[in-house]
Amino acid sequence: MKSLNTKQFYKLSLQERLARIKEAKDLSEGELSALKESGLSLDQANKMIENVIGTLEIPIGVALNFLINNREYTIPMAIEEASVVAASCKMAKVALIKGGFHTNHTTPTMIGQIQITNVADPFAAKMRILQERKKLLQLANEQDPILVKLGGGAKDIEVRVIDTASGPMVVCHLLVDCKDAMGANAVNTMAEALAPEIEKISKGKVYLRIISNLATKRLARAYAIFDADALGGEEVVDGMVLAYQFADADPYRAATHNKGIMNGISAVALALGQDTRAIEAGAHAYASLRGHYRSLTIWEKNVQGDLVGSIELPMAVGLVGGAVNVHPTVKTNLKILGIKSANELGSVIAAVGLAQNAGALRALASEGIQKGHMSLHARNIAVMAGATADMVDTVVEKLVATGKVRVDVAEQIIKELASM
Ligand code: MEV
Repeated sequence: MKSLNTKQFYKLSLQERLARIKEAKDLSEGELSALKESGLSLDQANKMIENVIGTLEIPIGVALNFLINNREYTIPMAIEEASVVAASCKMAKVALIKGGFHTNHTTPTMIGQIQITNVADPFAAKMRILQERKKLLQLANEQDPILVKLGGGAKDIEVRVIDTASGPMVVCHLLVDCKDAMGANAVNTMAEALAPEIEKISKGKVYLRIISNLATKRLARAYAIFDADALGGEEVVDGMVLAYQFADADPYRAATHNKGIMNGISAVALALGQDTRAIEAGAHAYASLRGHYRSLTIWEKNVQGDLVGSIELPMAVGLVGGAVNVHPTVKTNLKILGIKSANELGSVIAAVGLAQNAGALRALASEGIQKGHMSLHARNIAVMAGATADMVDTVVEKLVATGKVRVDVAEQIIKELASM
């Protein structure tokens, strides 16, 4: 497949961009029209959820310049917020100087929780459950022979005794390798199937049997070196490290810092038909695991003075089931991304999260966030003020130069241009 990482992709017209992506990713007319028009028909939507009355369109942009594990990716992002795609592309380009992104991950193991209450001897019950590990795993695996055949399935059991308002509670964790599925269905089915046996062994009462979104056994990791000169010099690097340290120490800042990371992560996840809420819940819970809510990324200055960033977070993504196999636009996006496994998708998503965070921190530690937003905002204001297509670029330029991006100022500029 041909590369799309041309310097000028953003300057092409929409039609030219579509033609380029069609050629580079070998898209059929049908796959292309899933991008150009509403991909999901009302009929399909009606089969997905209840009380359907319509569908909602969100822009899809592609993040370019991403070299991940020495492979070049074109990454679809679905998001309504300006500057996110641009920031990703820009930081991926900086990372490219030092070899791009490198990723790794754990096995795709999700946790199913079984809540056991009214246990007289919680710690002895824990031991009795662990004693029956083999039998319980076999029972769980009988629920999903296909997953087992693929090499996945229930692999282990862990038992915790937690303190609650009604005293100690026993919580059994079923660890399921979900392979290329996100896994909620498989895990929930297994957890439900184990409940009667667990009740017998523990002599307690089981209530909840449900997957945990704090997927600490299914982590994606990415790291990259960002060239100091390309970032704007040593002072910018130092500022970015201080910005990270601020977020890591202060939950008020960490919430915004991590929100910026999720701008990238959720946008890719949405474009690829993933359960964005599951990923978001996992990310934020993971950020809180070490005592207080902290940064999902770590930023350091290496001996060369370059900035090194890394990210690690739960990554419950799948390539089978859900919107992935149904939504025509998602299918086209998958083809554009060209990934082969859920693990690979998770790694790409983690790399985008890291790039997104780098973009925000670089802007915040130097010129501030508003400058980047201004020209797009100015374009909207110019159009609102009545700028025609042939004058919009000039109006935007003049508006930004005044530093007063307001409709009344735009109207004045348009009046002056019209009288020339
Ligand atoms: C805006 O959507 C995201 C940022 O606020 C993130 C950050 O502050 O790090 C720019």
